[in-house]
Amino acid sequence: MVQTQYNIVIAGSGKLAKAWFAFFRHHNAVAHIEVLSRSFKLNGFPKDAHLKYSLQHINSKSNLFIIAVSDRAVSKLAKTIYARFPKALVCHCSGTVLLSDLPQPLSHKMVVYPMYSFNGQSQTDWSQVPLFIEGLTTKNKKTIVQDLFANLHIYTCNSNERIRLHCAAVITHNFSNALLVWANSILPPKYQKHKVWYPLLHQWFTDLNSHLPKTLQTGPALRNDKTTIQKHIQLFSTQNSKVLYRKLTQLIQTQHEL
Ligand SMILES: NC(=O)c1ccc[n+]([C@@H]2O[C@H](COP(=O)([O-])OP(=O)(O)OC[C@H]3O[C@@H](n4cnc5c(N)ncnc54)[C@H](OP(=O)(O)O)[C@@H]3O)[C@@H](O)[C@H]2O)c1
Repeated sequence: MVQTQYNIVIAGSGKLAKAWFAFFRHHNAVAHIEVLSRSFKLNGFPKDAHLKYSLQHINSKSNLFIIAVSDRAVSKLAKTIYARFPKALVCHCSGTVLLSDLPQPLSHKMVVYPMYSFNGQSQTDWSQVPLFIEGLTTKNKKTIVQDLFANLHIYTCNSNERIRLHCAAVITHNFSNALLVWANSILPPKYQKHKVWYPLLHQWFTDLNSHLPKTLQTGPALRNDKTTIQKHIQLFSTQNSKVLYRKLTQLIQTQHEL
């Protein structure tokens, strides 16, 4: 049973802020929810979202601030919140901002880093999102996790571990996605709209359920097929692309000690 009622403020109106809003909107521990956005634009939020552009207009009973703004703005915003709401719990969601960058006392600050990609294009199934939690005292951590994140995938970490988790997430998602954009660009134009790479990805994802990534590698780098590698490199018109292809080939060969 939920004991505490939270008056939540989500700071930011970007991709993660929108996903948090959808998560907390109908949460049974949340009495009231507002969005603090400097740009004061609905920006994809529902029309009935309580959008405020300044802390001065935020409900004075607010007791939980979820900071979901660009990393460089987190610390300054936390200081401003602390000055006005010294008793509120402040939480940021960045993979790299240190817990110590928040001025609040330990019992009033936390990080909830979702190791996930929120792209603003689709609804988030929060039951699939691993949440890495840092900060708080043992007692209030237990309460808050039970109140707000019951039945989700919760892990604890420290700031050093979180940076590693974030770096791994960037390589996994952002770099893979950039490679896919690159792959699409070298397809014959008539196939560029057909997602011909989709079955490759689908099989890879299915296999990842039961195998380690290293065991799923295939291709010319693993076979050390120099003729094929050279033919591919000749396809690229820019030096950057040629270098990148060679570096990735080397990466695979180093991983497999070739
Ligand atoms: N997206 C993800 O997949 C993801 C995953 C895990 C963690 N995170 C973390 O979530 C946080 C937000 O990321 P996001 O992807 O949601 O970013 P985003 O879509 O780019 O949104 C950033 C938000 O920050 C606001 N902002 C930027 N500078 C600000 C400032 N100086 N003062 C006040 N507000 C400012 C922006 O306001 P304007 O619109 O007015 O510029 C915007 O609302 C980051 O800490 C990020 O590390 C994101």
